[in-house]
Amino acid sequence: MFSNRISDVPKSFIREILKVSADPSIISFAGGLPNRDLFPVENIQTATNNVFRIAGPDVLQYSNSEGYKGLRENIAKRYKSFYGIDIPSSNILITNGSQQGLDLLGKIFLNEGDSVAIEEPGYLGAIQAFGVYKANFLPVPVSEGGMDVCTLEAVLADNNPKLIYTVPNFQNPSGITYTNENREKVAKTLKGTGIYLVEDNPYAELRFTGSNKKSFMEFLPEQTILLGTVSKTIVPSFRLGWIVAPDNVMEKLLIAKQAADLHTNYFCQRIVDQFLNDYSLDDHIETIKALYMSKKETMIDAIKQHFPKEITFTDPEGGMFLWVTLPVGVSSLDLFDLAIKQNVAFVPGDPFYTNRTDVNTFRLNYTNTDEQRIRKGIKLLAECIREII
Ligand SMILES: Cc1ncc(COP(=O)(O)O)c(C=O)c1O
Repeated sequence: MFSNRISDVPKSFIREILKVSADPSIISFAGGLPNRDLFPVENIQTATNNVFRIAGPDVLQYSNSEGYKGLRENIAKRYKSFYGIDIPSSNILITNGSQQGLDLLGKIFLNEGDSVAIEEPGYLGAIQAFGVYKANFLPVPVSEGGMDVCTLEAVLADNNPKLIYTVPNFQNPSGITYTNENREKVAKTLKGTGIYLVEDNPYAELRFTGSNKKSFMEFLPEQTILLGTVSKTIVPSFRLGWIVAPDNVMEKLLIAKQAADLHTNYFCQRIVDQFLNDYSLDDHIETIKALYMSKKETMIDAIKQHFPKEITFTDPEGGMFLWVTLPVGVSSLDLFDLAIKQNVAFVPGDPFYTNRTDVNTFRLNYTNTDEQRIRKGIKLLAECIREII
């Protein structure tokens, strides 16, 4: 009855885990949710009233597929102020979250069996989105400092991927950030190949320490496609993201967007635009960063105190996740079974890989648990790790 396209894609593993960890007695490091206490409720409320005052019933009307011009101009301004790069607002398409950006890219680029090079570990939402289009995944490992360029070169020599998917800032799941040198090398490897590099970038603005890195747009402008979102800096429920792409790609994306849903929720676009006009996003982001940094430091402290010394982990300079590596041969799925009995949850590494199972890695989120529970949860997790290694 159902298409092959959908039948072969596994249910999102993470949704299953989130169901388990929704129980309030569980200390959950599993989710990837922004902290609800930081949602700018009052300012959004005022911005909404202002939108109604300024535009009246027109904000409830159908709109154009590209997205609201004012919002696209605001996004372009942000690229200028954060990265110093000039992005024409005509090259920005507003989408239903960056997740829809991934789907639209799959739709316009991928025939069944087409190859996509992807970070390993990689964002499971991208694996799922491209999986629907029957992508052939070519994993390229990332570790501290970025992508393994030798593997990338080998992958390019042996295959002909259409896309390469990256999250170069505070990667989901690992928290890793590519250095500028690594970005330059990756860009050099791709230059002139016609392969598009997708820079999916929800976390760059959540930097606690260290210096901002350059966008791939600076190194590889003709072949870079950017994905952005307000999910981690304002609110996720509006489902508001965007794609930045060259003219020829934009043309196809627009057709795909129209076919998918005509346009992204116009009302929410206007509210976000008004919010950006009336308030300082920088100030708001400072508040988010202060809270997340303190939670991250608590988690790192607790890990250093309780985890056995052979366990390695990333210590990200921003974002929402860190990544733990157990000794070779130890399964994080087995650890999950033990931990959940102690009322602690995390995401085992498996869904972040395209061709490996029973891996020895897992993801911890630190943005959603209070510091006392972070300490308690890490201590319990350490006991489970000692039991299993
Ligand atoms: C790397 C990455 N890309 C995309 C998304 C989806 O974001 P959005 O809410 O904009 O669809 C997420 C959400 O966690 C993410 O981590």
